[in-house]
Amino acid sequence: VRLFPGRQSREEYLRTQIERSERKFRYCKVSIRDALRYRGVVLGDLGARGLPAAPGPILCLGTRNGREVDLFRVAFFGSAPRRLAAALLEHHGHSFRALCPPLEAWGRSDAARPGPASAVGVEVNPRGARRDVWTGSFDEMPAGWADAFGVVYSNSFDQSQDPGRTAREWTRVTRPGGYVIVGFAKDADPSPTDPVGGLRLADVLALFPGELVYYRERGSRAGHSEAVIRVAKGRP
Ligand SMILES: C[S@@+](CC[C@H](N)C(=O)[O-])C[C@H]1O[C@@H](n2cnc3c(N)ncnc32)[C@H](O)[C@@H]1O
Repeated sequence: VRLFPGRQSREEYLRTQIERSERKFRYCKVSIRDALRYRGVVLGDLGARGLPAAPGPILCLGTRNGREVDLFRVAFFGSAPRRLAAALLEHHGHSFRALCPPLEAWGRSDAARPGPASAVGVEVNPRGARRDVWTGSFDEMPAGWADAFGVVYSNSFDQSQDPGRTAREWTRVTRPGGYVIVGFAKDADPSPTDPVGGLRLADVLALFPGELVYYRERGSRAGHSEAVIRVAKGRP
């Protein structure tokens, strides 16, 4: 891991992230096909271990306009026809967007009460607030979320202020045996907006204790490297 030199104050860090999120607010770097692939990995791993296919609730971190929360809800908990329709009705331009937004938006969860079939999000930019998106920082989430989520997804780890603190917080909200899915820009240079650079798989594994169940370099449709880790808790 390489951190951007010249540490920002907490206020500067949060302001920088919100301003950047504002500039890029319409973009979503997650595709429904990514979410469906993660579904396959997680359900496959649960099945191989003889466990019920009960992966939720799901938490997405750094969700900007919130579309990825819809994608995870549809991919993990939607019916087969709805999953297929969402995959067919997605436009891939500079980023990804729904050609039929209500198909993805319908049935949003409540971030105040995440249930077994919920997908909820966290976004620091107040413009991203929604019924299913909690406004705040992903390194300082509600105390009541300890061990609450079966799947925690993010492609925003590069935006964290302190990788150790962020990884501990993501691990805290993941239930033992749950999955952390990290999409990251492998070996990218750190910058004021992306303070965490130089990330490689070995760093991700050191930050998130557990078993690697899937890895693909630059495997997401937007080109992020992606790691799925089954989290083991209580290890030093
Ligand atoms: C690179 S964008 C990714 C957005 C989205 N996941 C996507 O794929 O399009 C990072 C997002 O994370 C948010 N973010 C950055 N730092 C954050 C923090 N500490 N807590 C919560 N959200 C944060 C930013 O505001 C921004 O919307």
